[in-house]
Amino acid sequence: MIDDRIAQEFNDHIRFEMASSHLYLSMAAWCESHGLPGFSNWMRRQAEEEHQHALKFFNFLLTRGGRVRLADIPAPDQDWDSPLAVFEAAQIHEAEVSQRINTLVDTVMSVRDHAANAFLQWFVNEQVEEEASVGDVVNRLRLVGSEGRGILLVDQELQQREATRLPA
Ligand code: FEO
Repeated sequence: MIDDRIAQEFNDHIRFEMASSHLYLSMAAWCESHGLPGFSNWMRRQAEEEHQHALKFFNFLLTRGGRVRLADIPAPDQDWDSPLAVFEAAQIHEAEVSQRINTLVDTVMSVRDHAANAFLQWFVNEQVEEEASVGDVVNRLRLVGSEGRGILLVDQELQQREATRLPA
């Protein structure tokens, strides 16, 4: 059985991962409507991953006998000034995700829930990848600046990102 406080914080995190998925889908829509299908593809794949992250928490909570209590998801931002602004916002968002995961680790350790800690370690490692992945796109966009041809080349590259199936 899972501690009530941990269950509450895991439910809050399910909501946050779902909000992340919503945010990236909003970014995908912005990119698509600005003639950038590759950036949109990257964001769509990212939105799918966030949904899978939410499901990992959902499944863990249920397996531990906790109640899943889904909550409302806030409307995401919808407008950005440039592709770089989109990806910088995503980078800031991922840093916040990492911070939240770290706080969750602190909380489960404070009640000596080793199973929850082991579960969260997957996310600790995943966040290293997530931050590196979005940071890589930000760096490329800074390199090409506002030069249209460079942006289109990055766009073509991001078209290659494929769907990821995360371990359950
Ligand atoms: Fe679920 Fe991008 O962190």
